[in-house]
Amino acid sequence: MGRIAYVNGAYVRHADAAVHIEDRGYQLADAIYEVWSMSDGKLCDPEGHFARLERSLGELSIDMPMSRAALTTVLRETVRRNHIREGLVYLQVSRGVAPRDHAFPAQPVPPAVVVTVKRVDPGAAEARAAAGVGVLTTPENRWGRCDIKTVGLLPNVLAKQAARAAGAGEAWFVDDEGNVTEGASSNAWIVTADGVLVTRDTSANILRGVTRATLLEVARSENIRIEERAFSLEEALSAREAFFTGAGALVMPVVAIDGRSIGTGRPGPVATRLRSLYIEGARAAAI
Ligand code: PDD
Repeated sequence: MGRIAYVNGAYVRHADAAVHIEDRGYQLADAIYEVWSMSDGKLCDPEGHFARLERSLGELSIDMPMSRAALTTVLRETVRRNHIREGLVYLQVSRGVAPRDHAFPAQPVPPAVVVTVKRVDPGAAEARAAAGVGVLTTPENRWGRCDIKTVGLLPNVLAKQAARAAGAGEAWFVDDEGNVTEGASSNAWIVTADGVLVTRDTSANILRGVTRATLLEVARSENIRIEERAFSLEEALSAREAFFTGAGALVMPVVAIDGRSIGTGRPGPVATRLRSLYIEGARAAAI
């Protein structure tokens, strides 16, 4: 059974799916995206991702290409046609197709919409989480609007590639003050030596992770002490635990940063428990 993509109103064979060469997403990264994790064929954290999608589009003055209800139908139908139960749903919306010009097209064009679905092996993901991953740090070199989920991801791409080349699972950006901002495709967390759960506040230049927001609720319901604030690389290195969150990673324990062991050098109890509570809750609330 071949893969299917949704492209501008049609379900097409993935191998044949194409966008126009003057799509502004392709030429100028004038596009935003969302990623939903999918459990048993359903979308996890739907509300958070739709709300952020609308916000990202609003910040760039791109219209919602269709109603939330219609978009939900498209996402689900793409999932159904791919016969995938566990994986990731990717939505990209660009400003549309127009002759290349940095400024917006004088005559508005319809946004271009693409949806793809990727299978994830839940067994392999659990094995990875059980082992934990390493993180490589890299200087923060991104623009000032990381709160918008744009496809302009080149610094993230280079950081992730450097991490992979070093045998690490994620890259963490560290700003000029020596504080961790976030991961190349995830939000960063630590559990301090005295048991406080810390993640960067969203007034910083980071993406407001949907998994992050849901996990904060989970942690609150577990009566875990939480601080949303900057934490330094130094503090992370002396933390009891570290982990990162995102639609792809869910909750991923970090066992080393720049080759230095974190805590016991094995996934910590807080991260491990939060991962299973997150997955359980997200599954129950998926649509
Ligand atoms: N990335 N920070 C960055 C830079 C991200 O790209 C992501 C998600 C997150 C976590 O956000 P959320 O919990 O809403 O997924 C934080 C997605 C998964 C991606 O680019 O594939």
